[in-house]
Amino acid sequence: MTDEFCSVLTQMLAEDKTVGRSGKHFTNLASNSTLNNLRFIQQTMRDRKPERTLEIGLAFGASALVFCSEHQRLGHKEAKQHTAIDPYQPYPPYDEAGSFAVERAGLIGYLDCRSEFSEFVLPRLVETQQRFDFIYIDGSHLFENVFIDAFYSAHLLNDGGWMALDDSSDPHVAKVNDFFRTNLAAAVKEIPLGAKSAIAGLLGKRQLTVYERLPYDGPHPPRTWDTPLRLWDSKLGKF
Ligand SMILES: C[S@@+](CC[C@H](N)C(=O)[O-])C[C@H]1O[C@@H](n2cnc3c(N)ncnc32)[C@H](O)[C@@H]1O
Repeated sequence: MTDEFCSVLTQMLAEDKTVGRSGKHFTNLASNSTLNNLRFIQQTMRDRKPERTLEIGLAFGASALVFCSEHQRLGHKEAKQHTAIDPYQPYPPYDEAGSFAVERAGLIGYLDCRSEFSEFVLPRLVETQQRFDFIYIDGSHLFENVFIDAFYSAHLLNDGGWMALDDSSDPHVAKVNDFFRTNLAAAVKEIPLGAKSAIAGLLGKRQLTVYERLPYDGPHPPRTWDTPLRLWDSKLGKF
């Protein structure tokens, strides 16, 4: 199976430029996910065949193009099964370049674009009992935002679903990962990403951290939309 990206993404990466809906040109697309992350998303889509996916942080659409093109490759019917959240999409810094790229790639039928802050969209998704199989957290990198994104994502994942946090060695993101590792082991387990990633972690250069949602193992089954991630009297683990 070819590991090529769709032509719109291939061109965007090769030229490091893209275009917004009103024709505005963008160069130096530093906010794009790394090639390694894009390959990771592609491989995870192929290996795990998620039905519904979510990303926080659409920007110019690099990762969204991978999600949507892989849904198409998996033979999924167009059903807006990839949700992408980004409040700044309609404003000049992006000029809807992300959703426009997905449209130019002929993949808009797979995209549910929410131009809002994730901290307001995610609780609504939980409350309306939405579930996802694969979530990519790449929005605001401030501690409080990453924490909120990861907290709600853990609620939104189906059992066995994966969530991946970008920029894991960033101190804000690293703090969230420390909390998850030491306090939420009943709800999520970290997926080892191999020796290369472990070494990068030791060097403070770890890009991705991935967790799998565990089935609910508490005193009040079944797991419903409002089941807490851990027991109310859990001790606070050091992080
Ligand atoms: C690193 S970029 C995302 C890159 C994208 N995943 C890609 O591969 O092209 C981060 C994005 O997060 C968005 N963002 C910032 N604060 C946010 C928030 N509170 N909720 C959702 N997105 C946010 C920014 O507008 C920016 O486009």
